[in-house]
Amino acid sequence: MNFYITTPIYYTNDVPHIGHAYTTIACDILSRFNKLSNNDVFFLTGTDEHGQKVEKAANDAKINPKKFVDQLSVNFEKLVPDLGCNVNDFIRTTENRHILSAQALWNTLIKNDEIYLSNYEGWYSIRDEAFYQESELKKINNKYYTKNGSPVEWLKEESYFFRLSKWENNLINFYENNNEVISPKTRYNEVLSFIKGGLKDLSISRTTFKWGVPVPNDNKHVMYVWIDALCNYLTAIGYPDLQNEKFKKYWPAIHIVGKDILRFHAVYWPAFLMAANLEPPKKIYAHGWWTNEGEKISKSLGNVIDPYDIISEYGLDQFRYFLFSEVPFGNDGDFSKNAISKRVNADLSNNYGNLIQRISTFIVKNCNSKIKYSNNFNDKDMELVNNFENKFEDYLIYMNNYQIDKAIKSIIEILSQTNAYVDDQAPWSLKKTDTDRMEVVLFLVVNIIIKSTIMLFPVIPSSAKKVLSFFNLNIEKIKFDDFNNLFKKDLYVNNPEPIFPRIN
Ligand code: MSP
Repeated sequence: MNFYITTPIYYTNDVPHIGHAYTTIACDILSRFNKLSNNDVFFLTGTDEHGQKVEKAANDAKINPKKFVDQLSVNFEKLVPDLGCNVNDFIRTTENRHILSAQALWNTLIKNDEIYLSNYEGWYSIRDEAFYQESELKKINNKYYTKNGSPVEWLKEESYFFRLSKWENNLINFYENNNEVISPKTRYNEVLSFIKGGLKDLSISRTTFKWGVPVPNDNKHVMYVWIDALCNYLTAIGYPDLQNEKFKKYWPAIHIVGKDILRFHAVYWPAFLMAANLEPPKKIYAHGWWTNEGEKISKSLGNVIDPYDIISEYGLDQFRYFLFSEVPFGNDGDFSKNAISKRVNADLSNNYGNLIQRISTFIVKNCNSKIKYSNNFNDKDMELVNNFENKFEDYLIYMNNYQIDKAIKSIIEILSQTNAYVDDQAPWSLKKTDTDRMEVVLFLVVNIIIKSTIMLFPVIPSSAKKVLSFFNLNIEKIKFDDFNNLFKKDLYVNNPEPIFPRIN
């Protein structure tokens, strides 16, 4: 199966924060999981560099917009590997390939009579880069704001419009026949009731500033930043060349987005695509928002979380693990120092790390680093084996359903059961009474440690790689399909280095 997964492209108006890190890591986890499942993965991220918001930030910094975005985009590009993420492409909307692609999409929409010229009069939020109806706003001291507190301004200008209203029924039909496309379910309901509430044609060009993709054949206008930005998902796989191998292989895509930008992805985007005779997205998954120690994260409150600070204090894999084990993917979550320490200590230090440490050191010390292959399992062993098989099945189902926290929980439960099994079987006592039985116990435990580590790899890639190296295994060569055959041989154990030290 082909699996094309995208993050939103990030505005280059500021430096990256935890929200950007969250979406990118989510996609990295899903991408690594799908590679282990033998799927052909293309993982895309990048930066959204046009529009009034970015232009305003450049003006405030007194730097020319192109220079400004060149400087800021680098931070996002560098963050990707610093988060332990492995992408196939990093796209910038100021790149030539993208400008050509956005203009090609525009021309197709013109050719299909999906665009007309008129005048826009109404509210606009530069912070959200979005148009609002007056009914969606609140008035404070004679000024209008969105529900989230973004200020809006009144626009009155010539504008090209996309015939969004025409696509209302097609969108409803599409979603009612494919009700798995938008997840979680509550988001699906929200989007559907929004569409059923009636769609108005959408203003898709601006004339009062210049920092955007020029509208073909009318250089008074630049494209509305969202039509430009959404098109990045096509650009990266070769659009407008529909015969491009990548395009044929990977479209349609899976979009992971924050709940705040669901409407753009689940209403406008599929309508643009259908209007351009292209397939709508395969999946749109909306995740929640993080708060910081209970407070909404905002620049004005000065509580924006810099991912680099968390990584240097707690470690990269600890950060990744916390973000995806603590909160169901789709829900809002609260970041707190207490919560990350507790979570990492309980799951990674006391459970996972401790199991590896005590078993590996025992084998190195007492068995000359070698464990003979064995399947001479008794009922107790078979109970653990069967538990593992069940949890592994659950894990696959959860991951395929984007329920990353539940998938992680299945692994943690296996590890707890395995720790209890070790206590119960006490290989240190068997060493004195029955070394054959000791070997069986150790073989089974190492086997489960290895499989659990492979299952954890998408979430904690560098630690998992390190753990596998204790057992002379290389993750690049492993797929879930190998689980049945991979370990039917003697195992060698190297002296383990400490992983996941306790956080105080
Ligand atoms: N440029 C648009 C996306 C265009 S996609 C064609 C954009 N950029 S953004 O930089 O403002 O936001 C990118 C992502 O960060 C969004 O998915 C948003 O939900 C996410 N987050 C921003 N703050 C967040 C939190 N506090 N918590 C979790 N995610 C949040 O929107």
